Amino acid sequence: MQPHALVTGGAQGIGRSVAERLAAQGWSVTAADRDEAALAAVEGQGIAPAVLDVSDSAAVAALVDRLPPLDVVVNCAGIAAELLPLKDIPREAFERMLRVNLGGTFILAREAARRMERGAIINIASRGYLGGAGAAHYVASKAAVVGLTRALAVELRWRGISVNAVAPGMVETRMIDDFTPEMRARLSRLEPAGGPMPPATIAEAVAYLASAAGRMVNGQVLLVDGGKSLGVAPC
Ligand SMILES: NC(=O)c1ccc[n+]([C@@H]2O[C@H](COP(=O)([O-])OP(=O)(O)OC[C@H]3O[C@@H](n4cnc5c(N)ncnc54)[C@H](O)[C@@H]3O)[C@@H](O)[C@H]2O)c1
Repeated sequence: MQPHALVTGGAQGIGRSVAERLAAQGWSVTAADRDEAALAAVEGQGIAPAVLDVSDSAAVAALVDRLPPLDVVVNCAGIAAELLPLKDIPREAFERMLRVNLGGTFILAREAARRMERGAIINIASRGYLGGAGAAHYVASKAAVVGLTRALAVELRWRGISVNAVAPGMVETRMIDDFTPEMRARLSRLEPAGGPMPPATIAEAVAYLASAAGRMVNGQVLLVDGGKSLGVAPC
């Protein structure tokens, strides 16, 4: 039977690339996103759009109820924010970050796990989970996604459901569009590849973790960052 994947944040960027990658290998894919206009562009070729706010528990449960059984869930919906030092991060911005990045991942993982027979849950974290200045709320939300991933992997392993995270370095998507040219140049210098990678690079990592062989990997964080996370070397 044709496997079915639900990809959140599937209207654009990494999520869209994941949806297209899985559809290209013959999967039926539901791309869920709160951006209805952007979703219209992904419909077709094995991808069905669904308007969804991942932080809305009732809406997530209702969507999963009306979809065919899920083999794979990719939690890719996420938000970033203006870079700010800790002293300037508003409480509301911190809470919103956790509500979407962590809360959305938790809600869909829970609703999926309640209904899935076997399969894989793949959470898009960020290399930033290891730390970084100017985005404490983003870093905290992604570190929490990694914690959630590990906890769920332990709980769900006996049911044949693997749970892993992919932690990308800088990826060429709308999320980095807001950077000033100076900031983009500064951040690009930290990337071993010299700049952002295409979303398709992350989609390949997700496709591996979604595959039968990839599901033997469990509770791991796959850093796809060209080695940026290894630190700097003065040569
Ligand atoms: N671009 C990068 O450099 C980078 C690096 C590391 C991790 N990430 C992570 O990758 C994921 C995808 O980001 P992207 O770079 O493709 O950005 P993007 O902005 O292109 O895509 C994010 C998508 O998530 C959707 N979304 C946001 N909040 C939502 C909600 N509440 N409900 C449903 N959909 C929602 C947006 O509408 C958008 O389509 C995010 O979790 C992000 O944190 C991105």
